[in-house]
Amino acid sequence: MEHLSNPDDTLHDERVLVIDFGSQVTQLIARRLREAGVYCEIHPFNRVDAKFLDDFAPRAIILSGGPASVNTARSPRAAQEVFERGVPILGICYGEQLICEQLGGEVENADHKEFGRAEIEIQKASPLFDGVWREGESHTVWMSHGDRVNALPSGFDVLAVSQGAPFAAIADEERQIYAVQFHPEVVHTPDGSKLLKNFVRNIAGLNGEWTMAAFRETSIAAIREKVGDARVICGLSGGVDSSVAAVLIHEAIGAQLTCVFVDTGLMRAGEGEEVVRLFRDNYNIPLVHVAAEDLFLSKLKGVDDPERKRKIIGATFIDVFEAEAKKIENATYLAQGTLYPDVIESVSFDGGPSVTIKSHHNVGGLPERMNLKLVEPLRELFKDEVRALGRELGLPPHFVGRHPFPGPGLAIRIPGEVTKERADILRKADAIYLEEIRNAGLYDEIWQAFAVLLPVRTVGVMGDERTYDNVLALRAVTSTDGMTADYYPYPHEFLGRCATRIINEVRGVNRVVYDITSKPPGTIEWE
Ligand code: XMP
Repeated sequence: MEHLSNPDDTLHDERVLVIDFGSQVTQLIARRLREAGVYCEIHPFNRVDAKFLDDFAPRAIILSGGPASVNTARSPRAAQEVFERGVPILGICYGEQLICEQLGGEVENADHKEFGRAEIEIQKASPLFDGVWREGESHTVWMSHGDRVNALPSGFDVLAVSQGAPFAAIADEERQIYAVQFHPEVVHTPDGSKLLKNFVRNIAGLNGEWTMAAFRETSIAAIREKVGDARVICGLSGGVDSSVAAVLIHEAIGAQLTCVFVDTGLMRAGEGEEVVRLFRDNYNIPLVHVAAEDLFLSKLKGVDDPERKRKIIGATFIDVFEAEAKKIENATYLAQGTLYPDVIESVSFDGGPSVTIKSHHNVGGLPERMNLKLVEPLRELFKDEVRALGRELGLPPHFVGRHPFPGPGLAIRIPGEVTKERADILRKADAIYLEEIRNAGLYDEIWQAFAVLLPVRTVGVMGDERTYDNVLALRAVTSTDGMTADYYPYPHEFLGRCATRIINEVRGVNRVVYDITSKPPGTIEWE
C-alpha cells in the first residue's frame, strides 16, 4: 500500500512511521501520537524497505510490539535501513528486543515472564522521561512479554529496571534510539502517553501541527482540487462518519453535493427526523429523503438468520440508493466515510485469510456498478479525530458523540423475525434506556449501549393480571475500537430504575435482563 499523505501539503510534513510487528495494540500507538499533535501512519514491517523509507521520509520511527520471539526462525525483522536513517527511533516490547538483536545485543527466553501491571524503577534521567519521571522514582507500567533483553548493544544505557526486566527502558542517547519493554500506548501505563509525546515532540523535535482545524483547511483544498466542478453524492446513515464527511464536503463544494438518506425503518427513535432536520434545515445541504421502511420490512418478512438479514438489508440498501442516485444528473463521485482503521493493512505472518465473524453491511460494489469515483475525506482519521473534526465543523456535540450504530440497525437487535410491531417496541425501550444513561451522566463513559428484544416470552404479573410478554436485554460495553469489549458495571439501582421504567412504559415487555458478557467470547451485538 502507498502511504496516504500528500507530500505537497505542509500538514503532513512532520510524519512519523509506526512499523507494525503484529501487536494487538499497535493502533493505540498511532492514536497517542495523533493526540500529541503529530501525524503518523502504520505500515506492516514487511512493506518497509529502503525505497519505502525514502518515499515516506519519516521524521521518527516507532517499532511496535508483536507476538513473535526474535529467537525463533523467520520471526520478523526491521529493514536494516531503519537504523541507518539517523532519525529518532523508539522500540516497544518486541520492538525493543529487535533493536537489541539487530544492533548487536542479546535476547533470551525469560523464566520470569511479566504480564500485567509491573513496577519499574527509574535509574537515569532521560529526555524520554522529561517532566514525567525522575531518577530514583518508582512507577507503574503495563508489561506483556515472555522474552527479555539480556545484553545491550554497545552505546546503550539502562534507563529503568523492573523485577522481570533488567532492561525495562534503554537508550543510546547519542543516536537517539530508545526502547522500552513495557507498553506506553495502553492506558494501564498511566504516564505512557506523556512518554510518547516526549519522544515525538522533545526528542524528534516535532512541532505538533496536526490539529483538526489544520486538517479541515487542508482537506477542503484537497476536495476542491480532486472534484473540480463535478457532482458528488453522499449516502447519509445518521451516523457520525457519513455526517462529518458530508459537512466537510459541503464546505468544500457547496451545492455540488447531494445527500441521500435511505430511511430503512430500522433506526433508533427520532433518528431519521434528526438527520433531515440537521442537514436539510440547518446546513441547507440538498437532501433526498427516501422513506423505505415498508420495502425493508417486506424483504425481511419471515427471515430469522442473522447473516441473511445483513445480506438482505445490504442488497436492498444498494438498490434503493442506486435508484435515487441515478436521478441525480452528472454525478461523478460517491462520498464515503471510510476511516483509517478500515485501510490499515494488517500484518499477516502466514499469509492466511482472517476469519469473518460477521459480514458488515456497507455500500460495497456500488461505485463499480454505477461507475462512480470515490471521495473519502476521512481516510486518514481515527474515530476520535472524526469526532473532533465534527465539533470543529459545528455539528452538535450530542450528535458527534453518538455511540456507533450498525448498518443493519435494529434488525440485528431483534433476534428472530423483524416486524414493525417488534421494531416499535424495541425503539421505545431503547429510548428509555438511553435517556436514563444520559440522565445518569454515563453516556460518554460507554462505547455502546442498546437494548435487544428477545424472541422469548415469560410470565409476569402486573396489578392483579397475569402477563405473558417479551424479555428485553440491556447491553452496555466499554471498548477502544470495538474489537474487544468489557461489559459496563452499572450500579444495581441504575439497572433497577431502567427495568421499572421500561416495564411500566413499554407495552409488550414484562421482564428486563442485563448482559454481562465480554468480547471475546461474546460479540457486542447479539447477532
Ligand atoms: P460485534 O457485534 O461484531 O460488533 O462485536 C463490533 C462493532 O461493529 C458493529 N457492527 C456492525 N456495524 N454493520 C455495521 O456497520 C454490521 O453488520 C455490524 N455488525 C456489528 C457493532 O455495533 C460494534 O460497534
